[in-house]
Amino acid sequence: MSALAVLLLAGQASATYLYVASYSGFVSTLNLTETESGTDLDIIAQDNNCGAIPSWLTLKDDGTLICVDEGWRTWPDGTTAIYSTNDDGSLSLLSAVNDVLVGSVSTVVYGDDNSHFAIAHYAGSGISAWDIADPSAPSMIQQELYEIEQPGADPERQEAAHPHQVITDPTGKYVLAPDLGADIVRVYSIASDATLEPDEPLEVPAGSGPRHAAFAVIDNATYLYILNELANTILAYTVTYTDRGMSFDEIYRSSIYGEDGQVPEGVTSAEIFVTPDQKNVILSSRMDKSFEIPAFGGDGSVSSDTLANFAIDQCTGVPELVQTVPAGGIQPRQFSTNAEGSRVAVGLQRDSRVVIIERDVETGMLGDSVAWLDVEGELVSVIWNEL
Ligand SMILES: *[C@@H]1O[C@H](CO)[C@@H](O)[C@H](O)[C@H]1NC(C)=O
Ligand SMILES: *[C@@H]1O[C@H](CO)[C@@H](O)[C@H](O)[C@H]1NC(C)=O
Repeated sequence: MSALAVLLLAGQASATYLYVASYSGFVSTLNLTETESGTDLDIIAQDNNCGAIPSWLTLKDDGTLICVDEGWRTWPDGTTAIYSTNDDGSLSLLSAVNDVLVGSVSTVVYGDDNSHFAIAHYAGSGISAWDIADPSAPSMIQQELYEIEQPGADPERQEAAHPHQVITDPTGKYVLAPDLGADIVRVYSIASDATLEPDEPLEVPAGSGPRHAAFAVIDNATYLYILNELANTILAYTVTYTDRGMSFDEIYRSSIYGEDGQVPEGVTSAEIFVTPDQKNVILSSRMDKSFEIPAFGGDGSVSSDTLANFAIDQCTGVPELVQTVPAGGIQPRQFSTNAEGSRVAVGLQRDSRVVIIERDVETGMLGDSVAWLDVEGELVSVIWNEL
C-alpha cells in the first residue's frame, strides 16, 4: 500500500454504514468501504420490525435509530420502531409502537438532551411529538390534526393538510413543518415541557406545495431554503429572530433548475439538502429523465433523473444554479451526504438502487457516481453512520 493510501485510510472513519429504508419492509445496513481500487457497498444486515413500509430514518447522536412506517398497508395505523445501532452494523430493536397516526414521512429529534422527536404525518394530516428519554418506552406527548378551509390551487394534491417534513431551526428552539396541502410552513416554538406551540406560519405562493426545507447558517446570518413539490420551485429566505419568534424575508425564487429552467410536465421535486460546509444547496427532482447514463453493471444505458446543485452566495445567502447531474436513476426521493460533504448517497425509489456520488469539497461540485448497489423494494430514505 502506498504512503498516500495509508494516510487516506488513516483519515477515515473506522466504519461507514448506510441505513436504507425500503417499502419492501426492510431496513438494510450497507457497509461502505473505500480502498485504493474503489468504493464498495455491501448489505451486511437487514431488519423488518419497522412496519410494512418503512419511510424515513433519523439517527440520534447517541446512535439511536428512529424508523417510521408510512402505514398505507395497515391504515389507519403505522409503526414507529426505535433501535440501537451496533458496531457490526446490525440493529437491535428497543421498542415498536404500532398505533401511530398513518402517513409518517419524516422525523426530527429535538429538545434538551435530544429527548424528544416529532413526526410529520402526510396522509394523517397532522404532526405528533414523542418523548424518547427512555427509547425502550417512547410515549406520545402531543398530536395535532389539521384541516384546511377549502382545497388549494391543486385540488387533487391539496385536498387536505399534508405536513411533509419536520426540521429544527439552527437554534434548536423551533420546529418547522412544510405543509404541502396548506401552502404554508408551520412554525412551532418548543415549550419547556417539549410540546410544540404553533406560531405564525410562513405562507408560500398558492399551489407551491412545500415539501421539504433546509437551513444554512453563514457567519451570523440564517437562511431557509424551501423546495415546493407541486410548483417545482425553490424559495430562499433570510431568517431573523424577534420577540415574537422567527420572521422570514424572501431573497430568491426560481424553478428547481434555476431562473431559466423549464420543468417538464409530471415532474415532482423531492429532497433539498444544505451541505455540511453550507456552501451548496442540492435538490432532487423525480421523473424528468434528463439524462441517459451507462447501465449499472450491465450493457447499454438507463435513464436518470436530476440532482440540481446550487452554490450559496456566502454574503447574501442567495442560491445560484451551478450544475445539474444524473441522480443515478429514477425517482431520487431522498439523499444525504456524509459528515465531510464529500459523498452523496441517493436512494432511487423506482430503480431500487443506492448510488454514491462524489462531491469535491473545495469547489462544491458534484462528480461521478463512485459506487452503487441494488437493494430490494422502493428505496425512500438513506442515511449515514460514520463510526
Ligand atoms: C465491511 O467491509 C470491509 C471491507 O470488505 C470488511 O473488512 C468489514 O469486515 C466489513 N464490515 C462488516 C461489519 O461486515
Ligand atoms: C457575529 O456576531 C458577533 C456578536 O454580535 C460579532 O462580534 C461578530 O463580528 C459577527 N460576525 C460576523 C462575521 O458578522
